[in-house]
Amino acid sequence: MNIFETNEWKTKRLSIRNIDGYDCLDLQTILKSVFKNSNWGEISLEEYESDYFVKTMIDPDLPPNYGRESFQIQVILKNKPEKPIGWVEFCCGYPSKYTLWIGALFIDPKYQNMKYGSELISTLIKSVKDNTNYNAIQLGVFLRNWPALNFWFKMGFDKIVRFSGDKNYGTDKNSKVALELIIGNL
Ligand SMILES: CC(C)(COP(=O)(O)OP(=O)(O)OC[C@H]1O[C@@H](n2cnc3c(N)ncnc32)[C@H](O)[C@@H]1OP(=O)(O)O)[C@@H](O)C(=O)NCCC(=O)NCCS
Repeated sequence: MNIFETNEWKTKRLSIRNIDGYDCLDLQTILKSVFKNSNWGEISLEEYESDYFVKTMIDPDLPPNYGRESFQIQVILKNKPEKPIGWVEFCCGYPSKYTLWIGALFIDPKYQNMKYGSELISTLIKSVKDNTNYNAIQLGVFLRNWPALNFWFKMGFDKIVRFSGDKNYGTDKNSKVALELIIGNL
C-alpha cells in the first residue's frame, strides 16, 4: 500500500521525494553530522556504513518476508533555496498489514528545532488519514534519545506498544520502545 499517490509530496516549507544516486553524498554528510551531535550513545556510526544510502536504496535492511516494494527512503529538501536537510524511511504494512512503520527520521543538526520535523510529521499524519487504509503509525526510539521522545510524544505518538533492550541498566546498555499513533481509519 503506497503512502502517497506520487513519490513526491510537499509541506509548507519542504519537498520530500524518493532518493536517487545524486542525494547519497549529501545525506552521508548529514548522517555523520547527526551522529557527531547526538549523545544517545547507543548506535554506533559503523551501523550506518559509509555507503549506507547507496546500499539502502538497492537492498534495504528489512524484516523477514518484507520485499523492496514495501520500503521507501526519501530525501527531505527545504525550499528557497532548495537544499537537502535530512531523510525519512518507511516500511509499509509493518509490523501488521494496517500499520505504517517510520523506520527513520533524521534532520540535519543545523536545521533541527526549527519545526521542520513537526511540519513533516503533521502532513504525513493528515495524508495517511485522508489517503490510506492504515490504522496506525509506529516507530522505534531509544530511551536515551530524550529530544526524539519529546518530539514524538508532542506529535501524538504517546502509546508504548513494545519494549526491547538489555536486561539490566548500565551506561553502556540500550533500550528501545515502539511508539504508536492511532489513525482511526478502520
Ligand atoms: C528528533 C527530530 C526528528 C525532530 O525534528 P526537529 O525538526 O528538530 O523538531 P521540531 O523543531 O519540529 O521540534 C518539535 C519538538 O521536538 C522536541 N525537540 C526537537 N529537538 C529537540 C532537542 N534537540 N532537544 C529537546 N527537544 C527537542 C521539542 O519538544 C520540540 O518542541 P518545542 O520546540 O515546542 O520545544 C530531529 O531533531 C532529529 O533528526 N534528531 C536526530 C535524529 C533522531 O533522533 N531521529 C529520531 C529517531 S526516532
